[in-house]
Amino acid sequence: MTHDQHANVSWNERVNEWEEVAASPAFQRLADNILEHASPTLADRVVDIGAGTGLLTLRVAPLVRDVLAIDAAPAMVERVIAIGKREGLENISGAVADLRELGLPDGSRTLAISNYAYHHVDHEDKRVALQDLYRVLAPGGRVVICDMMFAVSLRPRDRRIIWDKVKLISKRGPAGVLRVLKNAGKIATGTWEHPERPEAWEQLLTEIGFVEVASYELTNESGLVTARRP
Ligand SMILES: C[S@@+](CC[C@H](N)C(=O)[O-])C[C@H]1O[C@@H](n2cnc3c(N)ncnc32)[C@H](O)[C@@H]1O
Repeated sequence: MTHDQHANVSWNERVNEWEEVAASPAFQRLADNILEHASPTLADRVVDIGAGTGLLTLRVAPLVRDVLAIDAAPAMVERVIAIGKREGLENISGAVADLRELGLPDGSRTLAISNYAYHHVDHEDKRVALQDLYRVLAPGGRVVICDMMFAVSLRPRDRRIIWDKVKLISKRGPAGVLRVLKNAGKIATGTWEHPERPEAWEQLLTEIGFVEVASYELTNESGLVTARRP
């Protein structure tokens, strides 16, 4: 089984748990921030990348022409579609796809939004993913990506974020301490998740050809980048 297949298996098993995280005030605030920067309109054809249980898809749907929820885990896509149906949101569709290869026609979307998905792939795969996103966006199309945005480094903001994480996880007792040690091992072997600083995101988007690139540090570990396809 490949690393990616492992990732899908575990996300397929985390649908209920993730739905609770997405409903938390902290994640709802992230969604507020994303939608504020995205300024969706009724003309927009949206793609939500790494949509999970639909935190962004379900909130943006009433404000736009249509929204496509993309996720690598089929169980996540099924959940978004089911909730959309239950809530009478008829402009939601879903697709199982990897964020590195969206499988959508050129220029077919006007707005791309994403929350906490891209840190699952490394720097070069982010480049591949954002190049594909550039292709999929129509000229003028906007991008709003929120994610954990920091690096494992000695810079003050990075140090504070990592220390806060260690304290939070350690509070869970022996299981938490074990988790800290496991994460340290993953960092040492390069198999940890791949958050990057807001400046690294800005540079990547600019190199790919996006314009009006800007980044924002949000509370705790989170950051947000915005850009437009010229
Ligand atoms: C942390 S959850 C975030 C979900 C949602 N955006 C939210 O904010 O509630 C990450 C999601 O990204 C998906 N994911 C992970 N790796 C992916 C990949 N390579 N391509 C597409 N989706 C991926 C997972 O299946 C999961 O649903």
